Amino acid sequence: MIKVDPWGAQKYDYEKLFENFGIERFDEHVWKDLPSPPFFFRRGIVFGHRGFDVIKKSIKEKKPWVILTGLMPSGKMHLGHKIVMDQVIYYQSIGADIHIAVADIEAYATRGYSLKEAEKIAINEYILNYIALGLKPCNIYFQSKNEDVKDLGYILAKKSNLSQVNAIYGFNGSTNMAHVFSPFIQAGDILHVQLDKYGGIRPTLVPVGFDQDPHIRFCRDIASAHRLYSVIKKDRIGVFIKVDKNVDKLLDIAEGIAKKYGYGYERNDAYKAIYIDSDNAQQIDFELAMEERKLGGYGFLLPSSTYHRFITGLDGNKMSSSRPNYAIFLSDDIKTAKKKIWNAKTGGGVTIEEHRKQGGKPEKCMIYELFTYGLIKDDKELGEIYKKCRAGEQTCGQCKKLALDLMEEFLDNLKEKREEARDVVKEYYHGYKNKD
Ligand code: TRP
Repeated sequence: MIKVDPWGAQKYDYEKLFENFGIERFDEHVWKDLPSPPFFFRRGIVFGHRGFDVIKKSIKEKKPWVILTGLMPSGKMHLGHKIVMDQVIYYQSIGADIHIAVADIEAYATRGYSLKEAEKIAINEYILNYIALGLKPCNIYFQSKNEDVKDLGYILAKKSNLSQVNAIYGFNGSTNMAHVFSPFIQAGDILHVQLDKYGGIRPTLVPVGFDQDPHIRFCRDIASAHRLYSVIKKDRIGVFIKVDKNVDKLLDIAEGIAKKYGYGYERNDAYKAIYIDSDNAQQIDFELAMEERKLGGYGFLLPSSTYHRFITGLDGNKMSSSRPNYAIFLSDDIKTAKKKIWNAKTGGGVTIEEHRKQGGKPEKCMIYELFTYGLIKDDKELGEIYKKCRAGEQTCGQCKKLALDLMEEFLDNLKEKREEARDVVKEYYHGYKNKD
């Protein structure tokens, strides 16, 4: 059984991840009715999800929903990190309420940064780039300064134990306790946006890289552990009471919801269950969650997630800030970026003659990967390059030249925007006051 380690650096076989972890495929039928599907959907960069149907329904019905994602401020921001922000900016453009956690506690606990250092990195390397990329004012907060997030992490921890986190994360006797606690803080991040102060109970989407899936599974478990009802959809919708207190009253409430919508139902007190004739599990779950909150519970809806593939480093291994020669940083000057691009691994033939005769392999080419990850936005143009490379008509030199030109334009523009961003960065923290 493979194990996903959110703090490790392995490469993944994505096919195995579907079988082993039960995530769903983010295929065309999932994204095709969303407004102007962006390149990261069309090109399979976002490849998997949990519970995205809930988000789609909210978008379609114009009901509120929220994005929560996070960044760990360690090292410099590179193209691999950009893909999350591309998604956030897209979701913001279609009406999502955006919240972004700066995981300074996690950087402190797992990477050894002080909170001060983490703050500096977060602002200069990440937040300024987010704004430069086009993020509009929203709610960015630091974990260490958000009391609601930390309180929630602590409170939710009551229904989880050491064996559970050890099984998920492989902690052992020498793991420091701040590290052990960091997944609870992350659960606090993900769920706090459903507190009344932050907009209340509503579908929450967490777009992340696949390495974060253990946190997502853990957080979904925690969210449901704090629910009073569970809702299971089969031919009918089964509503089950998970607690032993006030069962009558809880069944009455569920019955009331079935009546309100005019659905047929069958109540089974001995089973602490009601079976409702409806196919709208989301509506019933939401109504029940709202009732739970009135009773003083949390009533968190299970957070949904999407997973994107990681961009490959320029040498064909993982792109990581610890291997700076093979990563393009958003703050790279063009000279440095040029050098890296010229040295990148391509899928071309060994000699130009061989390339012309046998064609190249775009699938194995890091330059083509840069194009795919957004350097080229137009699918037709990308498709042309693919064909011409396969046919040996376009050489690696030509592709590298094109990549350099596009990268120069991108980096120059970003640099300018980053400078402008310094004047507005404060606007991204208001909304909910962080503690100073
Ligand atoms: N653990 C994430 C990382 O390593 C950062 C993070 C913290 C996060 N809180 C989050 C991501 C909540 C998504 C949602 O980059």
